[in-house]
Amino acid sequence: MQKETIRLSKPIIGIEEKNAVLDVLSTERLGMGDVVEKFENQLGKLLKREVTCCVNGTSGLHLALQACGIGVGDEVLVQSMTYVASFQAISACGATPIPCDVKANSLTLDVEDVKRKLNPKSKAIMPVHFAGDVGELDAVYELAKANSLRVIEDGAHAFGSSYKNKKVGSFGDICCFSFDGIKNITSGEGGCVVSNDKKVISLIQNARLLGIKNDTEKRFGNTRSWHFDVSNQGWRYHMSDIMAAIGIEQLKKLDYFIKRRRKLARLYDAIFLQNDKVTAFNRNYHEVVPHIYSILLPKEMNRDHLRNKLLDIGIETGVHYMPNHKLSLYKTNEISSLKNTEEIYPRLISLPLHPGLEECHIEYITSEVNKLLG
Ligand SMILES: Cc1ncc(COP(=O)(O)O)c(C=O)c1O
Repeated sequence: MQKETIRLSKPIIGIEEKNAVLDVLSTERLGMGDVVEKFENQLGKLLKREVTCCVNGTSGLHLALQACGIGVGDEVLVQSMTYVASFQAISACGATPIPCDVKANSLTLDVEDVKRKLNPKSKAIMPVHFAGDVGELDAVYELAKANSLRVIEDGAHAFGSSYKNKKVGSFGDICCFSFDGIKNITSGEGGCVVSNDKKVISLIQNARLLGIKNDTEKRFGNTRSWHFDVSNQGWRYHMSDIMAAIGIEQLKKLDYFIKRRRKLARLYDAIFLQNDKVTAFNRNYHEVVPHIYSILLPKEMNRDHLRNKLLDIGIETGVHYMPNHKLSLYKTNEISSLKNTEEIYPRLISLPLHPGLEECHIEYITSEVNKLLG
């Protein structure tokens, strides 16, 4: 039996990140300064677009929606099966998140359901790149174009993933990433918004710092504005140099993290292929960087019982995600259009996946799951 609990996910932090944080601390300038600028430039070089960092992925989504002018009376179409952050970012603007169904084979947005729910109030689509998989992103963009909608990609899971040989975030309308503690790279907490829309970028850069016009340039010069104007609602959503210092070191390790995540997910898939009680998603790991590893249990299986049994033997698991249409704030009784979400949610379980795991951990986890499933 395992001595230490195998964590569902965790960051891989080395001496490099620790030293980088110490370097920032020793400058005695801890807010947003030239280290954030450096991190933004490095991310921008990778994605070949301008990148604006912020305090987390949720704030990035909120800033992006706000910059698109989305507000009270507007609707944003988003899959119900996502972290509540996607929904909260929409309702934070005063807009209404419209829960849509997911495709059963990927847990990404079902574009046909989005089509059914379009109406004159619809202003944007928010596809969530579930587990790093962007799903039918071309179809999302086609639909958006035909109906003059903005697309705000929730790429929280997808940093490093590609679609048709292009890096997620390097194309499309707006994409938001998360760098929280367990994401494909971390900056402690943190996130960023990527777009080619100059107006959106300018609005976001100001809004992340209380709407103070052009304060970003000053901060990057390690100074700040004393005489300024504010013409839009803003927030304290900027990234700090401490966070950016961690992010810069993590970025150097991205290729290694990607390789490990893909290798471990492929091993899970290969082992579960032998067990017809488990439905794995078999994602295209040439393009997808698996952020989480979810499977579907047999219908009759009690998920909580299985999760408790696994925890007893040192294996943490998760549930990605409780559908948002079941939450008090976003409750809807119109569930007939959310057929896949309703059917899949009780059977979903996520198994440990992070670059610190070894192949022997996956073998142990899968053999215990297989045993418990009989
Ligand atoms: C799908 C999804 N969207 C948005 C977010 C929000 O990111 P953050 O935690 O950085 O605010 C997360 C974070 O877990 C997420 O999983």
